[in-house]
Amino acid sequence: MPVVGLLATRACAIGAAASIARRGALVRAARAPLIHHRQARAGCLSTRAEVDQTLNPRVAALRPSKTMALTDKAREMKESGLPVIGLAAGEPDFDTPAEIVRAGCDAIKNGHTRYSPNTGTAALREAVCAKLKEENGLEYSPSEIVLSNGAKQSVAQGVIATCGPGDEVIVPAPYWVSYPEMCRLAGAEPVVVTTTADEGFLLTADKLRATLTDDSRLLILCSPSNPSGAVYTKEALEAIADVVRSHPRLLVLADEIYEHIIYEPAKHFSFAAIPGMRERTLTVNGFSKAFAMTGWRLGYLAAPQHFATATAKIQGQTTSGPSSISQEAAMAALGLGKFGGAPVATMKAAFQKRRDYVFDRLSKIEGVKLASPQGAFYVFPDVSGLVGDGCVAEGFGPIADADALCEYLLEKAQVALVPGSAFGNPECLRISYAASDETLREALDRIEKALAPEVYVRG
Ligand SMILES: Cc1ncc(COP(=O)(O)O)c(C=O)c1O
Repeated sequence: MPVVGLLATRACAIGAAASIARRGALVRAARAPLIHHRQARAGCLSTRAEVDQTLNPRVAALRPSKTMALTDKAREMKESGLPVIGLAAGEPDFDTPAEIVRAGCDAIKNGHTRYSPNTGTAALREAVCAKLKEENGLEYSPSEIVLSNGAKQSVAQGVIATCGPGDEVIVPAPYWVSYPEMCRLAGAEPVVVTTTADEGFLLTADKLRATLTDDSRLLILCSPSNPSGAVYTKEALEAIADVVRSHPRLLVLADEIYEHIIYEPAKHFSFAAIPGMRERTLTVNGFSKAFAMTGWRLGYLAAPQHFATATAKIQGQTTSGPSSISQEAAMAALGLGKFGGAPVATMKAAFQKRRDYVFDRLSKIEGVKLASPQGAFYVFPDVSGLVGDGCVAEGFGPIADADALCEYLLEKAQVALVPGSAFGNPECLRISYAASDETLREALDRIEKALAPEVYVRG
Protein backbone atom coordinates (compact mmCIF):
# COMPACT_ATOMS: atom_id res chain seq x y z
CA MET A 1 0.00 0.00 0.00
CA PRO A 2 1.38 3.49 -0.79
CA VAL A 3 2.62 5.36 2.29
CA VAL A 4 -0.03 8.10 2.02
CA GLY A 5 -2.82 5.53 1.78
CA LEU A 6 -1.43 3.61 4.70
CA LEU A 7 -1.29 6.74 6.85
CA ALA A 8 -4.85 7.70 5.93
CA THR A 9 -6.18 4.24 6.79
CA ARG A 10 -4.33 4.32 10.10
CA ALA A 11 -5.59 7.78 10.97
CA CYS A 12 -9.21 6.61 10.49
CA ALA A 13 -8.91 3.26 12.14
CA ILE A 14 -6.83 3.99 15.18
CA GLY A 15 -7.55 6.47 17.93
CA ALA A 16 -4.95 8.92 19.14
CA ALA A 17 -4.52 7.19 22.51
CA ALA A 18 -3.82 3.82 20.93
CA SER A 19 -1.35 5.45 18.60
CA ILE A 20 0.53 7.06 21.51
CA ALA A 21 0.61 3.75 23.39
CA ARG A 22 2.00 1.99 20.38
CA ARG A 23 4.61 4.67 19.81
CA GLY A 24 5.67 4.13 23.43
CA ALA A 25 6.07 0.44 22.68
CA LEU A 26 8.18 1.24 19.64
CA VAL A 27 10.42 3.57 21.62
CA ARG A 28 10.78 0.99 24.41
CA ALA A 29 11.74 -1.63 21.87
CA ALA A 30 14.33 0.63 20.30
CA ARG A 31 15.86 1.31 23.72
CA ALA A 32 16.10 -2.31 24.72
CA PRO A 33 18.86 -3.82 22.61
CA LEU A 34 19.14 -6.83 24.88
CA ILE A 35 15.60 -7.99 24.12
CA HIS A 36 15.80 -10.71 21.54
CA HIS A 37 15.36 -9.28 18.07
CA ARG A 38 12.29 -11.38 17.22
CA GLN A 39 10.67 -10.79 20.61
CA ALA A 40 11.05 -7.03 20.12
CA ARG A 41 9.62 -7.31 16.63
CA ALA A 42 6.55 -9.14 17.88
CA GLY A 43 5.95 -6.30 20.37
CA CYS A 44 6.19 -3.71 17.61
CA LEU A 45 3.80 -5.26 15.13
CA SER A 46 0.29 -4.75 16.39
CA THR A 47 -1.46 -4.70 13.01
CA ARG A 48 -0.51 -6.30 9.74
CA ALA A 49 -0.32 -2.98 7.94
CA GLU A 50 2.08 -1.37 10.41
CA VAL A 51 5.75 -0.98 9.49
CA ASP A 52 8.10 -2.97 11.68
CA GLN A 53 10.53 -0.38 13.02
CA THR A 54 12.67 -2.78 14.99
CA LEU A 55 16.36 -2.14 14.47
CA ASN A 56 19.38 -4.34 14.70
CA PRO A 57 20.05 -4.26 18.47
CA ARG A 58 23.65 -3.19 17.83
CA VAL A 59 22.43 -0.19 15.86
CA ALA A 60 19.73 0.59 18.42
CA ALA A 61 22.47 0.65 21.09
CA LEU A 62 24.54 3.26 19.22
CA ARG A 63 24.59 6.76 20.64
CA PRO A 64 24.57 9.62 18.16
CA SER A 65 27.69 11.79 18.01
CA LYS A 66 27.39 14.78 20.37
CA THR A 67 30.04 16.67 18.44
CA MET A 68 28.06 16.37 15.22
CA ALA A 69 24.79 17.26 17.00
CA LEU A 70 26.34 20.37 18.55
CA THR A 71 28.02 21.43 15.32
CA ASP A 72 24.67 21.09 13.52
CA LYS A 73 22.86 23.02 16.28
CA ALA A 74 25.41 25.85 16.14
CA ARG A 75 25.09 25.97 12.35
CA GLU A 76 21.27 26.13 12.58
CA MET A 77 21.43 28.93 15.17
CA LYS A 78 23.84 30.82 12.93
CA GLU A 79 21.60 30.35 9.90
CA SER A 80 18.67 31.70 11.89
CA GLY A 81 20.63 34.94 12.32
CA LEU A 82 22.20 34.45 15.77
CA PRO A 83 25.88 35.45 16.07
CA VAL A 84 26.96 31.99 17.21
CA ILE A 85 30.66 31.10 17.32
CA GLY A 86 31.14 27.40 16.66
CA LEU A 87 34.15 25.87 18.38
CA ALA A 88 32.68 22.38 18.45
CA ALA A 89 33.78 20.96 15.13
CA GLY A 90 36.91 18.89 14.65
CA GLU A 91 38.19 20.32 11.40
CA PRO A 92 40.84 22.80 10.32
CA ASP A 93 39.47 26.19 9.29
CA PHE A 94 42.09 26.40 6.51
CA ASP A 95 41.40 25.70 2.86
CA THR A 96 43.04 22.66 1.31
CA PRO A 97 46.51 23.76 0.05
CA ALA A 98 46.43 24.99 -3.56
CA GLU A 99 48.77 22.27 -4.88
CA ILE A 100 46.37 19.59 -3.66
CA VAL A 101 43.29 21.36 -5.03
CA ARG A 102 44.98 21.68 -8.41
CA ALA A 103 45.77 17.96 -8.46
CA GLY A 104 42.13 17.20 -7.63
CA CYS A 105 40.89 19.43 -10.48
CA ASP A 106 43.41 17.89 -12.89
CA ALA A 107 42.26 14.43 -11.83
CA ILE A 108 38.71 15.25 -12.93
CA LYS A 109 39.88 16.84 -16.19
CA ASN A 110 42.17 13.89 -16.93
CA GLY A 111 39.43 11.33 -16.45
CA HIS A 112 40.37 9.87 -13.06
CA THR A 113 36.67 9.51 -12.47
CA ARG A 114 36.12 5.79 -12.47
CA TYR A 115 36.00 3.22 -9.68
CA SER A 116 39.26 2.90 -7.82
CA PRO A 117 40.64 -0.53 -6.93
CA ASN A 118 39.05 -1.62 -3.64
CA THR A 119 42.07 -0.86 -1.42
CA GLY A 120 43.09 2.25 -3.38
CA THR A 121 45.35 2.91 -6.34
CA ALA A 122 48.70 1.11 -6.45
CA ALA A 123 50.47 4.47 -6.85
CA LEU A 124 48.98 5.95 -3.67
CA ARG A 125 49.50 2.79 -1.63
CA GLU A 126 53.15 2.85 -2.69
CA ALA A 127 53.41 6.54 -1.78
CA VAL A 128 51.87 5.80 1.65
CA CYS A 129 54.44 3.02 2.18
CA ALA A 130 57.24 5.46 1.33
CA LYS A 131 55.78 8.03 3.75
CA LEU A 132 55.47 5.46 6.56
CA LYS A 133 59.05 4.37 6.02
CA GLU A 134 60.55 7.85 5.83
CA GLU A 135 58.50 9.61 8.51
CA ASN A 136 57.52 6.80 10.88
CA GLY A 137 60.23 4.15 10.49
CA LEU A 138 57.57 1.59 9.48
CA GLU A 139 58.01 -0.98 6.71
CA TYR A 140 54.85 -2.05 4.88
CA SER A 141 54.22 -3.47 1.45
CA PRO A 142 51.48 -1.82 -0.65
CA SER A 143 49.25 -4.87 -0.13
CA GLU A 144 49.23 -4.10 3.61
CA ILE A 145 47.71 -0.64 3.03
CA VAL A 146 43.95 -0.14 2.76
CA LEU A 147 42.81 3.33 1.66
CA SER A 148 39.29 4.19 2.80
CA ASN A 149 36.70 6.95 2.74
CA GLY A 150 38.23 8.78 5.69
CA ALA A 151 40.17 7.50 8.70
CA LYS A 152 36.81 7.00 10.40
CA GLN A 153 36.09 4.13 8.06
CA SER A 154 39.62 2.77 8.61
CA VAL A 155 39.09 2.74 12.40
CA ALA A 156 35.61 1.19 12.10
CA GLN A 157 36.85 -1.55 9.78
CA GLY A 158 39.85 -2.21 12.02
CA VAL A 159 37.59 -2.67 15.04
CA ILE A 160 34.95 -4.72 13.23
CA ALA A 161 37.55 -6.97 11.58
CA THR A 162 39.27 -7.86 14.85
CA CYS A 163 36.63 -7.72 17.60
CA GLY A 164 33.31 -9.43 18.20
CA PRO A 165 30.96 -10.60 20.94
CA GLY A 166 32.85 -11.57 24.10
CA ASP A 167 35.80 -9.31 23.27
CA GLU A 168 36.77 -6.29 25.34
CA VAL A 169 38.26 -3.17 23.79
CA ILE A 170 40.32 -0.94 26.07
CA VAL A 171 39.43 2.68 25.34
CA PRO A 172 41.35 5.28 27.37
CA ALA A 173 39.18 8.31 28.19
CA PRO A 174 39.01 11.00 27.10
CA TYR A 175 38.40 9.21 23.82
CA TRP A 176 37.37 10.21 20.34
CA VAL A 177 33.56 9.97 20.37
CA SER A 178 33.33 7.18 17.82
CA TYR A 179 35.57 4.54 19.42
CA PRO A 180 33.09 3.08 21.96
CA GLU A 181 30.27 3.18 19.41
CA MET A 182 32.37 1.32 16.84
CA CYS A 183 33.08 -1.35 19.48
CA ARG A 184 29.33 -1.68 20.13
CA LEU A 185 28.68 -1.97 16.42
CA ALA A 186 31.16 -4.85 16.33
CA GLY A 187 29.32 -6.49 19.25
CA ALA A 188 32.38 -6.05 21.47
CA GLU A 189 32.42 -4.33 24.85
CA PRO A 190 34.24 -1.00 25.22
CA VAL A 191 36.11 -0.90 28.53
CA VAL A 192 36.72 2.75 29.32
CA VAL A 193 39.78 3.64 31.40
CA THR A 194 39.59 7.19 32.65
CA THR A 195 42.63 9.45 32.71
CA THR A 196 42.60 12.90 34.31
CA ALA A 197 44.03 16.36 33.69
CA ASP A 198 46.50 15.72 36.54
CA GLU A 199 47.73 12.63 34.67
CA GLY A 200 48.11 14.67 31.48
CA PHE A 201 45.22 12.57 30.06
CA LEU A 202 47.64 9.73 29.35
CA LEU A 203 47.11 6.03 29.97
CA THR A 204 49.90 4.55 32.08
CA ALA A 205 51.28 1.03 31.78
CA ASP A 206 50.09 0.31 35.35
CA LYS A 207 46.53 1.37 34.60
CA LEU A 208 46.52 -0.72 31.47
CA ARG A 209 47.86 -3.76 33.32
CA ALA A 210 45.12 -3.43 35.93
CA THR A 211 42.43 -3.32 33.23
CA LEU A 212 43.41 -6.27 31.07
CA THR A 213 41.55 -9.57 31.25
CA ASP A 214 41.60 -12.76 29.16
CA ASP A 215 38.87 -11.16 27.04
CA SER A 216 40.93 -8.07 26.17
CA ARG A 217 41.35 -8.06 22.41
CA LEU A 218 42.17 -4.51 21.37
CA LEU A 219 43.67 -1.37 22.89
CA ILE A 220 42.91 1.90 21.11
CA LEU A 221 45.57 4.58 21.39
CA CYS A 222 45.17 8.05 19.91
CA SER A 223 48.23 10.31 19.86
CA PRO A 224 48.11 13.28 19.50
CA SER A 225 44.72 12.93 21.12
CA ASN A 226 41.35 14.18 20.18
CA PRO A 227 40.00 15.64 22.49
CA SER A 228 42.83 16.33 24.96
CA GLY A 229 45.79 17.14 22.69
CA ALA A 230 47.90 14.81 24.85
CA VAL A 231 50.90 13.18 23.16
CA TYR A 232 52.52 9.92 24.29
CA THR A 233 56.30 10.00 24.52
CA LYS A 234 58.34 7.15 23.05
CA GLU A 235 59.12 5.99 26.60
CA ALA A 236 55.45 5.96 27.64
CA LEU A 237 54.57 3.92 24.55
CA GLU A 238 57.41 1.49 25.23
CA ALA A 239 56.11 0.94 28.76
CA ILE A 240 52.63 0.25 27.32
CA ALA A 241 54.19 -2.11 24.76
CA ASP A 242 55.77 -4.11 27.59
CA VAL A 243 52.29 -4.72 29.01
CA VAL A 244 50.85 -5.51 25.56
CA ARG A 245 53.59 -8.11 25.03
CA SER A 246 52.45 -10.05 28.09
CA HIS A 247 48.94 -10.52 26.61
CA PRO A 248 49.35 -12.62 23.45
CA ARG A 249 45.75 -11.98 22.26
CA LEU A 250 45.96 -8.22 22.58
CA LEU A 251 46.14 -6.02 19.47
CA VAL A 252 46.59 -2.26 19.28
CA LEU A 253 44.85 0.22 17.03
CA ALA A 254 47.07 3.32 16.84
CA ASP A 255 45.11 6.32 15.55
CA GLU A 256 47.77 8.76 14.33
CA ILE A 257 45.59 11.12 12.32
CA TYR A 258 46.91 14.21 14.16
CA GLU A 259 50.60 13.22 13.88
CA HIS A 260 51.65 16.34 11.94
CA ILE A 261 49.82 18.74 14.26
CA ILE A 262 52.25 18.46 17.13
CA TYR A 263 54.18 21.17 18.99
CA GLU A 264 57.83 21.16 20.05
CA PRO A 265 59.24 19.68 22.20
CA ALA A 266 56.61 16.93 21.71
CA LYS A 267 57.49 14.42 18.99
CA HIS A 268 55.28 11.89 17.29
CA PHE A 269 56.26 8.27 17.65
CA SER A 270 54.46 5.40 15.93
CA PHE A 271 53.46 2.54 18.22
CA ALA A 272 54.12 -0.05 15.49
CA ALA A 273 57.77 1.07 15.36
CA ILE A 274 58.41 -0.44 18.80
CA PRO A 275 60.14 -3.82 18.43
CA GLY A 276 57.58 -6.62 18.41
CA MET A 277 54.58 -4.32 17.98
CA ARG A 278 54.30 -4.18 14.19
CA GLU A 279 52.67 -7.62 14.03
CA ARG A 280 49.99 -6.62 16.56
CA THR A 281 49.29 -3.07 15.47
CA LEU A 282 46.77 -1.56 13.10
CA THR A 283 48.00 1.96 12.33
CA VAL A 284 45.39 4.44 11.13
CA ASN A 285 46.15 7.77 9.51
CA GLY A 286 44.64 10.03 6.88
CA PHE A 287 44.62 13.32 5.05
CA SER A 288 41.75 15.18 6.76
CA LYS A 289 43.52 17.00 9.56
CA ALA A 290 47.12 17.69 8.50
CA PHE A 291 46.23 18.65 4.92
CA ALA A 292 42.88 20.34 5.68
CA MET A 293 41.15 17.75 3.49
CA THR A 294 38.17 16.79 5.68
CA GLY A 295 35.71 16.89 2.78
CA TRP A 296 37.87 14.81 0.45
CA ARG A 297 37.26 11.75 2.66
CA LEU A 298 40.50 9.84 2.54
CA GLY A 299 42.21 7.82 5.24
CA TYR A 300 44.17 4.60 5.47
CA LEU A 301 45.06 1.65 7.59
CA ALA A 302 48.45 -0.08 7.60
CA ALA A 303 48.49 -3.52 9.16
CA PRO A 304 49.96 -7.01 8.82
CA GLN A 305 48.54 -8.69 5.72
CA HIS A 306 46.02 -10.89 7.55
CA PHE A 307 44.33 -7.89 9.22
CA ALA A 308 44.65 -5.59 6.21
CA THR A 309 42.94 -8.22 4.04
CA ALA A 310 40.13 -8.59 6.60
CA THR A 311 39.41 -4.84 6.60
CA ALA A 312 39.56 -4.80 2.79
CA LYS A 313 36.94 -7.55 2.73
CA ILE A 314 34.53 -5.36 4.75
CA GLN A 315 35.23 -2.41 2.47
CA GLY A 316 34.74 -4.51 -0.66
CA GLN A 317 31.24 -5.47 0.45
CA THR A 318 30.18 -2.07 1.75
CA THR A 319 31.66 1.07 0.17
CA SER A 320 34.31 -0.21 -2.29
CA GLY A 321 37.42 1.90 -2.81
CA PRO A 322 37.63 5.60 -1.95
CA SER A 323 37.24 8.47 -4.41
CA SER A 324 39.64 8.26 -7.37
CA ILE A 325 39.79 12.06 -7.47
CA SER A 326 40.74 12.36 -3.80
CA GLN A 327 43.45 9.78 -4.27
CA GLU A 328 45.05 11.83 -7.05
CA ALA A 329 44.88 14.86 -4.77
CA ALA A 330 46.45 12.84 -1.94
CA MET A 331 49.40 12.00 -4.21
CA ALA A 332 50.03 15.75 -4.37
CA ALA A 333 49.64 16.03 -0.58
CA LEU A 334 52.33 13.39 -0.04
CA GLY A 335 54.46 15.16 -2.62
CA LEU A 336 54.54 18.38 -0.56
CA GLY A 337 57.60 17.16 1.33
CA LYS A 338 58.51 15.47 4.58
CA PHE A 339 55.85 15.97 7.29
CA GLY A 340 53.67 17.80 4.76
CA GLY A 341 56.27 20.39 3.71
CA ALA A 342 55.72 24.14 3.88
CA PRO A 343 51.89 24.21 3.67
CA VAL A 344 51.48 21.92 6.69
CA ALA A 345 54.22 23.77 8.60
CA THR A 346 52.37 27.06 8.04
CA MET A 347 49.07 25.66 9.35
CA LYS A 348 50.85 24.06 12.31
CA ALA A 349 52.51 27.35 13.25
CA ALA A 350 49.11 29.07 13.20
CA PHE A 351 47.58 26.32 15.36
CA GLN A 352 50.42 26.58 17.85
CA LYS A 353 49.96 30.35 18.20
CA ARG A 354 46.25 29.85 18.79
CA ARG A 355 46.84 27.07 21.28
CA ASP A 356 49.10 29.38 23.30
CA TYR A 357 46.52 32.18 23.16
CA VAL A 358 43.55 30.00 24.17
CA PHE A 359 45.55 28.28 26.90
CA ASP A 360 46.67 31.61 28.31
CA ARG A 361 43.16 33.10 28.33
CA LEU A 362 41.56 29.99 29.88
CA SER A 363 44.21 29.69 32.58
CA LYS A 364 43.14 33.11 33.88
CA ILE A 365 39.55 31.96 34.51
CA GLU A 366 38.99 30.92 38.12
CA GLY A 367 37.86 27.29 38.43
CA VAL A 368 39.44 26.08 35.19
CA LYS A 369 42.16 23.40 35.39
CA LEU A 370 44.31 22.75 32.32
CA ALA A 371 46.78 20.19 31.02
CA SER A 372 48.84 21.77 28.27
CA PRO A 373 47.91 20.21 24.93
CA GLN A 374 50.94 19.10 22.91
CA GLY A 375 49.16 18.40 19.65
CA ALA A 376 45.90 18.40 17.61
CA PHE A 377 43.78 21.57 17.79
CA TYR A 378 41.79 21.19 21.00
CA VAL A 379 42.01 22.36 24.58
CA PHE A 380 40.26 20.15 27.11
CA PRO A 381 39.87 22.11 30.36
CA ASP A 382 38.65 20.44 33.53
CA VAL A 383 35.74 22.65 34.65
CA SER A 384 34.78 20.73 37.81
CA GLY A 385 35.55 23.94 39.76
CA LEU A 386 32.78 25.70 37.84
CA VAL A 387 29.95 23.17 38.06
CA GLY A 388 28.01 21.25 40.68
CA ASP A 389 26.35 22.17 43.98
CA GLY A 390 25.84 25.88 44.42
CA CYS A 391 26.98 26.89 40.93
CA VAL A 392 24.44 29.26 39.42
CA ALA A 393 24.46 31.44 36.33
CA GLU A 394 22.39 34.61 36.29
CA GLY A 395 19.40 34.34 33.96
CA PHE A 396 19.99 30.62 33.44
CA GLY A 397 19.95 28.80 36.78
CA PRO A 398 21.96 26.04 38.41
CA ILE A 399 24.89 24.59 36.50
CA ALA A 400 24.95 20.98 37.63
CA ASP A 401 27.60 19.69 35.24
CA ALA A 402 29.71 20.45 32.17
CA ASP A 403 26.75 19.60 29.92
CA ALA A 404 24.75 22.40 31.58
CA LEU A 405 27.75 24.71 31.34
CA CYS A 406 27.96 24.12 27.59
CA GLU A 407 24.20 24.76 27.27
CA TYR A 408 24.60 27.99 29.22
CA LEU A 409 27.55 29.14 27.11
CA LEU A 410 25.66 28.37 23.92
CA GLU A 411 22.50 30.12 25.07
CA LYS A 412 24.02 33.16 26.80
CA ALA A 413 27.46 33.63 25.22
CA GLN A 414 26.50 31.99 21.94
CA VAL A 415 29.68 29.96 21.86
CA ALA A 416 29.33 26.30 20.90
CA LEU A 417 31.63 23.89 22.76
CA VAL A 418 31.37 20.14 23.37
CA PRO A 419 30.84 18.77 26.90
CA GLY A 420 33.39 16.24 28.11
CA SER A 421 30.64 13.65 28.59
CA ALA A 422 30.85 13.09 24.82
CA PHE A 423 34.44 11.92 25.32
CA GLY A 424 34.02 9.97 28.57
CA ASN A 425 35.32 12.76 30.89
CA PRO A 426 32.17 14.52 32.13
CA GLU A 427 34.08 17.06 34.23
CA CYS A 428 35.75 18.60 31.16
CA LEU A 429 34.75 20.34 27.96
CA ARG A 430 36.40 20.56 24.55
CA ILE A 431 37.26 23.78 22.80
CA SER A 432 38.48 23.56 19.22
CA TYR A 433 40.91 26.33 18.32
CA ALA A 434 40.72 25.62 14.59
CA ALA A 435 39.28 29.10 14.08
CA SER A 436 40.66 32.51 13.16
CA ASP A 437 42.49 34.67 15.71
CA GLU A 438 39.61 37.22 15.77
CA THR A 439 37.03 34.46 16.24
CA LEU A 440 38.97 33.00 19.15
CA ARG A 441 39.44 36.42 20.75
CA GLU A 442 35.72 37.14 20.52
CA ALA A 443 34.79 33.65 21.81
CA LEU A 444 37.08 33.97 24.82
CA ASP A 445 35.82 37.49 25.58
CA ARG A 446 32.29 36.11 25.64
CA ILE A 447 33.21 33.06 27.76
CA GLU A 448 35.10 35.25 30.23
CA LYS A 449 32.13 37.62 30.49
CA ALA A 450 29.66 34.75 30.98
CA LEU A 451 31.81 33.33 33.78
CA ALA A 452 32.55 36.65 35.52
CA PRO A 453 31.86 36.52 39.29
CA GLU A 454 29.10 39.17 38.94
CA VAL A 455 26.96 36.82 36.83
CA TYR A 456 28.33 33.37 37.66
CA VAL A 457 28.38 32.04 41.23
CA ARG A 458 30.87 29.25 41.90
CA GLY A 459 29.72 26.69 44.49
C1 LIG B 1 40.94 10.90 16.48
C2 LIG B 1 40.28 10.86 15.16
N1 LIG B 1 40.40 9.77 14.41
C3 LIG B 1 39.83 9.67 13.20
C4 LIG B 1 39.07 10.72 12.70
C5 LIG B 1 38.42 10.54 11.35
O1 LIG B 1 38.97 11.35 10.39
P1 LIG B 1 38.45 11.33 8.88
O2 LIG B 1 37.94 12.71 8.62
O3 LIG B 1 39.65 11.03 8.05
O4 LIG B 1 37.40 10.30 8.76
C6 LIG B 1 38.90 11.87 13.46
C7 LIG B 1 38.03 12.97 12.96
O5 LIG B 1 37.51 13.76 13.70
C8 LIG B 1 39.53 11.95 14.71
O6 LIG B 1 39.41 13.05 15.47
